[in-house]
Amino acid sequence: MSGSAEDWGRRESGSATSGDEDPTTNSRLEAARADAELFLSCVPSILIGLDPDGLVTRWNPAAVAILGVSPERALGRAFEDSGIQWEKPGMKAEVARWLRAAAPSFRSEDVPYRRDQKTRILGLTVRRMVRGQETAGFIVTAADVTEVRALELELRQAQRLEAVGQLAAGLAHEVNTPIQFVCDNLQFLGRAFAAWQVVLAAYEQAWGAASEGMPLDPWQAALARAFDEADVDYLRAEAPKALAQSLAGAEQVAALVRAMKEFAHPGRTEKAAADLNRALQNALLIAQHEINPAADAETDFGELPPVVCHGAEINQVFLNLILNAAQAVRDRMKQTGRRGRISLQTRREGQWVAVRISDTGGGIPEAIRSKVFDPFFTTKPVGSGSGQGLAIARAIVVGKHGGTLNFEPNGMQGTTFVVTLPVSPAPEGPEPADPNS
Ligand SMILES: Nc1ncnc2c1ncn2[C@@H]1O[C@H](COP(=O)(O)OP(=O)(O)O)[C@@H](O)[C@H]1O
Ligand SMILES: [Mg+2]
Repeated sequence: MSGSAEDWGRRESGSATSGDEDPTTNSRLEAARADAELFLSCVPSILIGLDPDGLVTRWNPAAVAILGVSPERALGRAFEDSGIQWEKPGMKAEVARWLRAAAPSFRSEDVPYRRDQKTRILGLTVRRMVRGQETAGFIVTAADVTEVRALELELRQAQRLEAVGQLAAGLAHEVNTPIQFVCDNLQFLGRAFAAWQVVLAAYEQAWGAASEGMPLDPWQAALARAFDEADVDYLRAEAPKALAQSLAGAEQVAALVRAMKEFAHPGRTEKAAADLNRALQNALLIAQHEINPAADAETDFGELPPVVCHGAEINQVFLNLILNAAQAVRDRMKQTGRRGRISLQTRREGQWVAVRISDTGGGIPEAIRSKVFDPFFTTKPVGSGSGQGLAIARAIVVGKHGGTLNFEPNGMQGTTFVVTLPVSPAPEGPEPADPNS
């Protein structure tokens, strides 16, 4: 056994002390075992072995370090009772259910547990090991994804702020224009009212004189003068218009504010049934300032069932796609001088809903088609794009809703982004209500 490089004095930790039959074979086996142990112990993820009944047989150092549970506590126990402090109510039953289920593997990205008085999050996979027809046991691999989750959230927040920042100036303008003419009109109506007051006062005096039986002749000139000075014909024609315009302006502002309010869905963290046509209409309204200079928007909305989703996040997806489309059309207009078109179409397709956002912009060149969903990939100058929009849109649509997000060339010119979402997505935590029942 000379030259066995693996034989690096690990025997003392093994059980190869009774090597009376064939010491060479035994020590080699032991060395191989120690080697494998060392190899496994270096895995930085949690690695837990279970027997076919779900009792813990292996518990690696990462499991000790991350979960804070010793092998002595865990070994021989059912996995769900191994000492991990599950945070979700009913988690033990759920884990037991995974092990009983026939599926070859189970993955959850979002398993909360408690460590040092803090809630942390595990991404966890349970894989069934099969020998022949029999279950030979299970391997649980897991990693603490708390920081990753926090970073993701921060990025998403940053991107949302960026989109909001991009829109804020436009929205301010959008609100300012109608408010400005409402103010102008109100000032005009104020002056008109003062003029009416003068006319009315003249009439009152004439009326008083008439009811006392005095002759009206002396009043006629005064009345005519008041009438003239007030420009009553003009007021009569213009005041109703000013009122109608003011109302329209106020309604425009109210609609925008309502759209923004609906758009934000403040405080909602669970999936809820949403009207996607309405969501798209709101996104269009909010993005109109980005769209209007270069494109006409058109909608072709099919009848849609309510879709169970994270409304605020799906809104963000729509807004990102519409803003990308607006930007593409604007860039193209700089070259051609012609306005473009942004078209939104929705359709129900069985248990799915498809949303198509098309533009007549410059299209996505072949060379970058595989990159546009990469985080931070952008072709836009610093300050106008961060390259996060599509990466986050895909994480939301695919990761959180089990949907799809793709794009295709839009005829000769431009791009169509297609979002599909299941009408009732697979349950995530508490079972969502079936919107079709
Ligand atoms: N509708 C579109 N038309 C043409 N190119 C697009 C379109 N949407 C996205 N792209 C391309 O994909 C890149 C990444 O988009 P995105 O992730 O939203 O980041 P950003 O808009 O900040 O650049 C864009 O820089 C652009 O090159
Ligand atoms: Mg973008």
